Amino acid sequence: MRRPALLLGTGAVVLVLALLAVWLVVLPDDRDTADDSTSTGPTTAQADLSTVLSDGFDDGTGRWEPLGDGVRIAQDQQVTRSGAGSLLVVGRTEAWHGAQVDVSGTLTPGVPHTVTAWVRLGLGGGADPTDDAAHRTGEVRLTLQRRDGGAGDDEYLHVAQVTATADEWMSLSGTVDLPAGDGTWRLYVETTGTLADLRMDDVLVQRPSSPVQSDLTGLRDAADVPVGTAVAGQDLTGRRADLLTQHFDQVTAENAMKPAVVQPVEGEFDFGPMDQILDFAVEHHLTVHGHVLVWHRSTPDWFVTAPDGRPLTDSPADQQLLRDRLRTHIQAVAAHLADRYGDNSPVTSWDVVNEAIDPAQSDGLRRSPWYTVLGPGYIADAFRTARDVLGPDVALYLNDYDTDAPERRRALVALVTDLLAHGVPLDGVGHQMHLRLGADVTRIDTTLAAVQALGVRQAVTELDIALTGPDQTLTAVTDDQLAAQGDLVREVVAAAVAHDIASITVWGLYDTRSWLRTWPTDRPLEAPLLFDDDLQAKPAYRGFLAGLGTSPNSDDN
Ligand code: XIL
Repeated sequence: MRRPALLLGTGAVVLVLALLAVWLVVLPDDRDTADDSTSTGPTTAQADLSTVLSDGFDDGTGRWEPLGDGVRIAQDQQVTRSGAGSLLVVGRTEAWHGAQVDVSGTLTPGVPHTVTAWVRLGLGGGADPTDDAAHRTGEVRLTLQRRDGGAGDDEYLHVAQVTATADEWMSLSGTVDLPAGDGTWRLYVETTGTLADLRMDDVLVQRPSSPVQSDLTGLRDAADVPVGTAVAGQDLTGRRADLLTQHFDQVTAENAMKPAVVQPVEGEFDFGPMDQILDFAVEHHLTVHGHVLVWHRSTPDWFVTAPDGRPLTDSPADQQLLRDRLRTHIQAVAAHLADRYGDNSPVTSWDVVNEAIDPAQSDGLRRSPWYTVLGPGYIADAFRTARDVLGPDVALYLNDYDTDAPERRRALVALVTDLLAHGVPLDGVGHQMHLRLGADVTRIDTTLAAVQALGVRQAVTELDIALTGPDQTLTAVTDDQLAAQGDLVREVVAAAVAHDIASITVWGLYDTRSWLRTWPTDRPLEAPLLFDDDLQAKPAYRGFLAGLGTSPNSDDN
């Protein structure tokens, strides 16, 4: 049974106004995007609120569902408040019919949440805008509901109500104190009377951020080797920077040093995003693992296109052109580093070639554009050029994923063996280690032992542990999953340390920043890193520490 919504008390209203003031300062740029390597970073105010849900309906209806029999929801691309889409709700035959989303795993009971949505009454696609219905008005409201909270009855928290029309977008916004305790939560939009179609866009749920846990043992202090994380500009200020420098003494630019960013057009270099990260590294005495020089996914098309627009072939002239372009690229990067940092460049290592392996090929090598033009020798060429230009003090890595898979391990060992036999200046192997719960640590251990036996260095370069596969949808993250993730991190880190690892890097500072949130599909609850959306340590942090052979501070729990 539905109950009247709870009304907010005076204290809550004051809180609403205070939070709203902060919120107004932070909109609209507070959304974390795993991909945003050029962001200039958050303001201090931004750092005070954590975004726990952000739905712009630009890729579809997300996790939203119809509310009520016969109701249908769809993404609409004709009427949007921002971006490519909005949510359209049609087929409403009761005022309470609308759209809902399960936010059980998203909200934190016991703390206030600010919820905002933009709404508008809407005509279905193709309706005549001169129709009277276009000008009707109606009350639209946003409600949070808790079920199975233990008290017997459902609870309804009234977020906001507004008089809407079909003519313009109206903001619905309010802050509610979420009671502590169990139960499932859903957020829904409905009307009080009108049965008009409903539109919604730009739903945002935020809550005050917790302080960074300064009493935790820094991972960097517990390790004998550099502990790294992938970063973008947005990680370098406020609380994120505090978390970064507390636990990590090395960074990898998540995107900012990739050729597609550095030289998107031949001869046009953009070192801005890279400088931002390297300047931070110098200021905070962090080392930098350079990522990346040759990678098919970040090789702009111009690299492998002739001046007349045709794809490069394996003719000697085209081969020379591609080799020259790579040398020019590396030289430009090296010259920039020398100009800016002199002898104090923070970049101590580079992924020279990334993801070259394909065990399905007879020679074990991926048929990338580099391979197509230059043949298998492109790998040795790239390392020789890198050594020549970058000098002897920078460690040169061959980096790849799923190196624990037996057929990929065999291809990797064969490739490295061959390169070393030919005197190629390869210093190390990078294991990306994008893992998933249930990963077999024995296989990882076997690969680490095999690479160690080759006499090169090795590093864990991009560690993350997904809770689910890309084809599964997480509806909630359980404590059991987080505990299992912690156990797996501990085992992986222990295996790495046992095999003389040169550094261990995680692919992102905290869960919100993980690339797996959006790759290969939207996975809004995926939580593959050591710190949660609120920058708080997860069991995975404690697992990392335990894997290094250190127990957490007693008050770390
Ligand atoms: C990913 C970044 O995290 C994303 O932001 C970007 O959109 C694509 O690349 N292996 C690699 C990394 O070597 O460069 C990738 O990083 C993740 C997979």
